[in-house]
Amino acid sequence: MITRAQFLSLLGTSISGLLLSPGKLFADRNAEALAAKLFGSNFIWGAATGAYQIEGAFNVDGKGLSIWDDFSHTKRKIKDRSDGDVSCDFYHKYREDLALLKSLNFGAFRFSIAWSRILPEGTGTINRKGIDFYNQIIDTCLELGIEPWICLYHWDLPQTLEEKGGWANREVVNWFSEYSRICTLHFGDRVKNWMVLNEPLSFTSLGYLAGIHAPGYKSINKFLASVHHAALCQSAGGRIIRENVKQANIGTTFSCSWIDVKKSKPKFHKASERLDALINRLFIEPVLGLGYPTDTLPFLKKMEKFIQPGDLEKLKFDFDFIGLQNYFRIIGKPSLIPFIRAKNDKPDYNDVQFTDMGWEVYPEGIFKILQRFAKYPVKEFMISENGAAFYDNVTGENVHDPMRVQYFQQYLSQILKAKQNGIPVNGYFAWTFIDNFEWAEGYKMRYGIVYNDIQNQKRIVKDSGLWFQSFLSQ
Ligand code: FCB
Repeated sequence: MITRAQFLSLLGTSISGLLLSPGKLFADRNAEALAAKLFGSNFIWGAATGAYQIEGAFNVDGKGLSIWDDFSHTKRKIKDRSDGDVSCDFYHKYREDLALLKSLNFGAFRFSIAWSRILPEGTGTINRKGIDFYNQIIDTCLELGIEPWICLYHWDLPQTLEEKGGWANREVVNWFSEYSRICTLHFGDRVKNWMVLNEPLSFTSLGYLAGIHAPGYKSINKFLASVHHAALCQSAGGRIIRENVKQANIGTTFSCSWIDVKKSKPKFHKASERLDALINRLFIEPVLGLGYPTDTLPFLKKMEKFIQPGDLEKLKFDFDFIGLQNYFRIIGKPSLIPFIRAKNDKPDYNDVQFTDMGWEVYPEGIFKILQRFAKYPVKEFMISENGAAFYDNVTGENVHDPMRVQYFQQYLSQILKAKQNGIPVNGYFAWTFIDNFEWAEGYKMRYGIVYNDIQNQKRIVKDSGLWFQSFLSQ
């Protein structure tokens, strides 16, 4: 079975030979001189999470099952055979956890709503206890002086809806609209910052084409249908938030990667352009009224059968901000892989550091991707996720994670450079607050700035968390 690390950019370059190479630490003077105040007093500093990854309580207080409950219980595709049944038990520990977040000086908390906690059947009857839970999260944040940022969908579709075809069924637009309406009407009085979808390319490609995430299909047809339906939901969700939430700040998030070329030859440039169309253009261009990048990716024409008259107009929405989530760069070269005919190549080995996911640490990539997206008429950018999985060295009450500290310093100094170059990037959400269930990778991949022992739910603030605490106080 391939993993997300190998699937990297949909294209299956095997990088397993590189996984054991932690690389070396680079001294970066600019990064060391960083201080939060350099980003300006209005810059948003947050930590990001996703419901299925931290909440646990998968069947508690009336919650219905989601595709991730089903996938982790039945498909045997999670590396360590784990699931999110208990995970960090944030459902019960949110008060202590949010107080901890506050103690690290973060001003914002990004979380998602588990659709099947609100609507156990996906549509219809509302589960009051689900609403109560998110009310408590929101109220606790506000009491602590933390701004709540809601993401409506972070990959956990109600299982009942998957049984009706999930994202591949156009009805999902109505289901998602109903769900969005309920969330905005219940939480919009206190929550002003909203994100519609988390990385639509990831959940459509990994879930319906590569089969390595829930619901586990390998079908080009389901993939293309789900892309169009997710794009319709992205703008429909934006409109519903605008309608129901006064003074809302509305965004949505995209996974994105800077694409380099392996060799400066026309065939390589073309391959990189195809990768760029798939990875960076597919979801933003329809929002801006530019349609899908069919010119560069002719196989997208197969999507036409899912497009109805009037859809191209419906795909547009005037977002207040775009959330960019950047983890790795891609080095394009031609290949025989169907449809895309391009793949990701290895960087040169010299002086390259990799995370435990096998993702190259390439801080300049975040600067370049901000520059690349700044060519679009976008009002404001948030870095809505960025972070790294590294092995953690626990010694008593300490967790020393120098590589993660350095990762954050280096990426943040590139974001600062982008800001100083006039790119309107106005916030940063570290991925992630607490070590959690990392999808098909299970619990082995640790991204948290707070360590969690899932055997006893003991949290330990890592050196990276302490680094943020001090950085954010300056
Ligand atoms: C992003 C996901 C997030 C987490 C990080 C590592 O693509 O949005 O949930 O898995 O990757």
